[in-house]
Amino acid sequence: MQTLERVQPPKSKYALYQEICEQLQELLGNETNFVANAANTSALLFQSLPDVNWVGFYIAEDEELVLGPFQGKPACVRIPFGKGVCGAAARKQETILVTDVNRFPGHIACDTVSQSEIVVPLLNWGRVLGVLDIDSASLNRFDHEDEEGLESVVSVFLSSQMTNDLPDLSEAAAQS
Ligand code: SME
Repeated sequence: MQTLERVQPPKSKYALYQEICEQLQELLGNETNFVANAANTSALLFQSLPDVNWVGFYIAEDEELVLGPFQGKPACVRIPFGKGVCGAAARKQETILVTDVNRFPGHIACDTVSQSEIVVPLLNWGRVLGVLDIDSASLNRFDHEDEEGLESVVSVFLSSQMTNDLPDLSEAAAQS
């Protein structure tokens, strides 16, 4: 007798990013170290997202982005604010989605295989801490669902950092 296998419907992008956010929250736990958390975030995204060839962080240092934890081929180390997709996202303080990198003026080609990319800035009270950069070897790999999903992933990552950046109010409290 032939048995019918139950075919699982493909997971929606929304469901995939929801799952990634939950896993990331568990993975980061109470850890606040920026490098450790950025390393685990890039590893989780690289393992979980289909059709990506580079996932990583650039960290802001005086109007320059410096290569941070990543997964993929070795990449360029320093990108000035305003240059390439990463520098543009840092300067504009907004996510940039590039369907075809060959059509993006000033795109920095670290790996010629990359065809599309998305860069999400890490923002804290109007200050850019760095960017999350994800590349794909396929054209048009990222859409607005990826933008929303990755911005949620970045929020989870940033919430592991915020306590470090909160102003110390103990003196003000002591005086009141
Ligand atoms: N593509 C980026 C440079 C970084 S690599 O892709 C890792 C850009 O143009 O900003």
